[in-house]
Amino acid sequence: MTEPFALAAFLARWGASIRHDLAASESETTPLAELLAMADAEDAERWARLEFGYAHPRGAPWLRETIAKRYHGLEPADILCCAGAQEAATCIARALLGPEDHAVVVLPIYQPSEQAITARAPTAGVALEERGGEWILDLDRVAAALRPNTRLILTNFPNSPTGAQLDRAAFDALIALCRARGIWLVNDEVYRQTDRVADERLPPVADLYERGISIDGLSKGFGLPGLRVGWAACRDRDLLTRALLAKNELSSCLAAASEVLAQIALKAEAPIVRRNRAIGRRNDERLQDVLRRLPDLFEPAPSRNLAFACPRYVGPGSASAFAVSLARGAGILVLPLGVWHSPLAALPADRVRISLGQLRSGPGLDALALHLCEARRPELVA
Ligand SMILES: Cc1ncc(COP(=O)(O)O)c(C=O)c1O
Repeated sequence: MTEPFALAAFLARWGASIRHDLAASESETTPLAELLAMADAEDAERWARLEFGYAHPRGAPWLRETIAKRYHGLEPADILCCAGAQEAATCIARALLGPEDHAVVVLPIYQPSEQAITARAPTAGVALEERGGEWILDLDRVAAALRPNTRLILTNFPNSPTGAQLDRAAFDALIALCRARGIWLVNDEVYRQTDRVADERLPPVADLYERGISIDGLSKGFGLPGLRVGWAACRDRDLLTRALLAKNELSSCLAAASEVLAQIALKAEAPIVRRNRAIGRRNDERLQDVLRRLPDLFEPAPSRNLAFACPRYVGPGSASAFAVSLARGAGILVLPLGVWHSPLAALPADRVRISLGQLRSGPGLDALALHLCEARRPELVA
């Protein structure tokens, strides 16, 4: 039986009563009027003439053309648009896996993505390890987890909640491991635009590997999760056709309005992402200040992503109890890493994920600092 979605359950339990949401991982959103003001003449015309018949099952050709340009040598036929990155990951899992197959998932990972895999095939989990302040993927452990029938490895780099990113050599080595055995490498790349050091950004896996599948979308760095626009990009058109069959059971097609708004946002990526990264940097400075002032509660460490930080909690009690007491006592929502737990591997639970990506994260961080500096510490943990 599928385990309950722990992150959603935590949000459902505490979300309604909070005053400061520091749990989100999406960047600042853009209101409709601002987005429309960024439209070029072609897309303004598309918006004005929008009709609400069924949209193209794979995504509008012009939208897929814009998406395909994000990859080297891909064409619209190499893109399958889905209702969010999560649906894209699910469709790919359904297209690739059957009960006779085996899969490997690198953890922690968004729980519905993990479950899209575990629902289809026996799965091994390989946990990222923290060594000397860096998150490492031990490739020997990945290799040891493989079986002759391993068909797919699922990763999420840049990673949530840890912010971990592979360097190019490690990514190449992972691809080489997959290539040697014909294993598909599915990388959830939704946090690409919020990585800390854009100069070190990895190319999408679909650019590097003929069996690489890039999962991406507008939910995180673009700050547009409500559009529900994601996609899978890869060089195998038969696979995308099989993924489309899976999608037929789910959402059929994107919302026609979302297609046009996504097209506008993709063309306006530079200003949207520049603004969102600047918000993340400002909030990270605030967070670093909070961490410095509270060394008995948090281990100071640089944030690895501009949408969220993942500091280690070293105060009294567990990180989960701390997060609950913060929600209950101060109306501030952060996510304890326990909500990423997995039956596949033991994962660190001594951290919290804290939003950095939104304008409201700033006042939230100020409220966090005020509460933690002024509150009597023994009362913090229930
Ligand atoms: C790693 C990861 N992948 C996918 C998703 C879901 O993305 P979408 O809303 O585009 O389906 C999330 C949401 O938090 C996520 O963290």
